[in-house]
Amino acid sequence: MSRIAYVNGQYLPQSLAVVPIEDRGYQFADGVYEVCEVFDGALIDEPHHMARLERSLSELRIDAPLAGSGLSVVLHEVMRRNRLTNGFLYLQVTRGVAPRDHGFPQKPVRPALVVTAKSIDPRKGEALASKGIAIASTPDLRWKRVDIKSISLLPNVLAKQEARDKGCYEAWLIDEKGFVTEGSSSNAWIITQEGKVVTRAADHAILRGVTRTTLMKLIAELQLPVEERSFTLAEALAAREAFISAATNLVMPVVMIDGHPIGDGKPGPIASRLRGLFHAAAEKTEWRRR
Ligand code: PDD
Repeated sequence: MSRIAYVNGQYLPQSLAVVPIEDRGYQFADGVYEVCEVFDGALIDEPHHMARLERSLSELRIDAPLAGSGLSVVLHEVMRRNRLTNGFLYLQVTRGVAPRDHGFPQKPVRPALVVTAKSIDPRKGEALASKGIAIASTPDLRWKRVDIKSISLLPNVLAKQEARDKGCYEAWLIDEKGFVTEGSSSNAWIITQEGKVVTRAADHAILRGVTRTTLMKLIAELQLPVEERSFTLAEALAAREAFISAATNLVMPVVMIDGHPIGDGKPGPIASRLRGLFHAAAEKTEWRRR
């Protein structure tokens, strides 16, 4: 079955879906995005993704692409048309199409909206989680407003590729003071020798992950000790456990950082437990029921 994409009002086979060459996303990375997980036919944490999208749009002064629940209708329609049971929805909103000029278009233009779907086999993620992943650290070269989920991702792209070139799955970005900010496409967590779950506070230096938000709720329910604070790479290397979180990885145990094993070099019990409980803690909206 060919994949169906939504592009500016139309549902099209992905091979026929195109955007104009003067889309400001293409020329300036002037836009924002969301990646939402679909698990067992349900869209995971849709209200959180919509709230973050709204915030990103308003920080960049881009109008909402559709009024009211219009965007939700499109997301569920893309799931339905792709018969998406497990995978991801990618949605991108750019400022629109206008002759190239750095300032905002003088005549108001309609924001451009693209939604695509990707199916995955969830067993692959489970297999990876049972082994754990390796991390490579690298300087955080990004701008100072990475709390906005902007499509301007070049430093993230370069960091991820650097990690892959080193045989690692993810990069951890290190700020000028030696603290870990986050992963190139995930949030970073450690569990200290005292058993405290630590992740950086959601300031302007990290993206407030939707997975992170749901995990915080789960961690509170489990009454695990938690600290939202910065941690250094040295502290991570000495941690009992480490993991990353993202819609695309849920909770993924980290077993190696820069070639050093974390804990006993195997996925830790707390990370594995949080992964196992994640979907039960998340909000689910199902297309089959619509
Ligand atoms: N990225 N930090 C960064 C820099 C990210 O790109 C992401 C997600 C996260 C985790 O956010 P969430 O839990 O809402 O997925 C943190 C997506 C998955 C991506 O770019 O593919």
